[in-house]
Amino acid sequence: MNEVPARSKRRTVGRARLLAGGVVALVTAVASVAMATLAHADLSGPPGTTLKAAAERSGRYFGAAMGGDRLNDSGFLTIANREFDMMTAVNEMKPDATQPNRGQFDFRAGDAIYNWATQRGMKVRGHTLAWHAQQPRFWGSLNGSALRTAMIDHINGVMGHYRGKLYAWDVVNEAFAENGSRRSSNLQSTGNDWIEAAFRAARAADPGVQLCYNDYNIENRTYGKTQGVYHMIKDFKARGVPIDCVGLQTHFTGGSSLPGNFQQTLSSFAALGVDVALTEVDVTNASSSQYQGLTQACMNVPRCVGITTWGVRDSDSWRGNENPLLFDRNSNPKAAYTSVLNALNAASTTVPGTSTPSGSTSPSTPNDPGQPGVCTATYRSAGSWGGGFQGEVTVSNNGSTTLNGWTVRMTLAGGQTIVNVWNGANTGSTGTVSVRNAAYNGSLGANASTSFGFLANGSTSTAPGDISCTSP
Ligand code: XIL
Repeated sequence: MNEVPARSKRRTVGRARLLAGGVVALVTAVASVAMATLAHADLSGPPGTTLKAAAERSGRYFGAAMGGDRLNDSGFLTIANREFDMMTAVNEMKPDATQPNRGQFDFRAGDAIYNWATQRGMKVRGHTLAWHAQQPRFWGSLNGSALRTAMIDHINGVMGHYRGKLYAWDVVNEAFAENGSRRSSNLQSTGNDWIEAAFRAARAADPGVQLCYNDYNIENRTYGKTQGVYHMIKDFKARGVPIDCVGLQTHFTGGSSLPGNFQQTLSSFAALGVDVALTEVDVTNASSSQYQGLTQACMNVPRCVGITTWGVRDSDSWRGNENPLLFDRNSNPKAAYTSVLNALNAASTTVPGTSTPSGSTSPSTPNDPGQPGVCTATYRSAGSWGGGFQGEVTVSNNGSTTLNGWTVRMTLAGGQTIVNVWNGANTGSTGTVSVRNAAYNGSLGANASTSFGFLANGSTSTAPGDISCTSP
């Protein structure tokens, strides 16, 4: 098993800061379009000839990070448009960029990347809201409850602007030390509950976006830091703190390399009931075997939803001297590109909820009514705003034996469209839709209940009609 060496401190903020002038007002309007669901999986289709096409076969995405300066770089843009279906801003959505001065939000640089990506059908991961680095300068003069309040205000301001528009947010970035204890930082000094406070605020600010914890050196399951993050997520799940995903940065640069237990690490996180994603991949000298191995590990874990490389060409990399990316400085794909493409095409698992069982009218499929009346579904509104609403459906087992799988059907009012479902997987997003259990909440003991949530756009928040539940 490979060791994961501790890395030396490596944060430099050497980039141009945005000008503080031209403050952009906080916009809280709900976006009319949100694209939080992943591609429809179809493993029987032909192999993909681009990274995104190959990833989409299994309901996954393939992403890259881009800086605002790349918006004028046609070499970058050509590859990005052809190969990727998810984008992350390298620096432009970080706290110092989005709130340069207290109460003055500036989304111009983040929006430019968001607009470029979404106009080309890509989804966007937001990165990041609370982090010890790249903080607004004014956070440096705050501490205790004043800093905590500033962090929550920041989450509300930035998530309000992007509400309903992003696939995921890295709510908290890099909060653990190498030994698995909390990293000391000004945010940590506001109290150990700062991470859960951030996640609770995040859920309220944008109920439809995936909320992720993101970190580096958490790729080796037995490593102290990995264990620290694992136990935090387990605890959050046990206590109902909202968290949907873990981002493993997967920087196999700066002295780190692919550990032999990487797939087990991914599946152990997934078993806690969260999605996993590789969020900032780069590999020293673009080792084909490491790229192949990390991709295959993700493909083997159903809840590993996608891979993002931290840049496109070596010339885009924050560690360019290690030549760690899939394209060289002349925009040519490297050998590692082919090994990643092949591993994506060889995926044998699909992301839960992205594939429709074939022959779905057969009585043996989970979508068919089996024991009507044994499970029931009850709707409640969890909030509404101009242009959208959030619903929660409680699914209960009224029988005396354990149910294995459930499907809720409901009919949305005209003009309503579901944009995201959590703790369940939907088929259809308008009219009569069905939502079946997620991988981790299908088993319901006698008299037990669970719930799923959804976010919908629509001019009315009328409750869905004809709600029913069936189990196989
Ligand atoms: C890096 C950027 O690539 C650099 O441009 C910037 O100077 C520092 O931050 N982990 C993260 C990313 O979560 O935000 C970091 O990005 C790389 C490490």
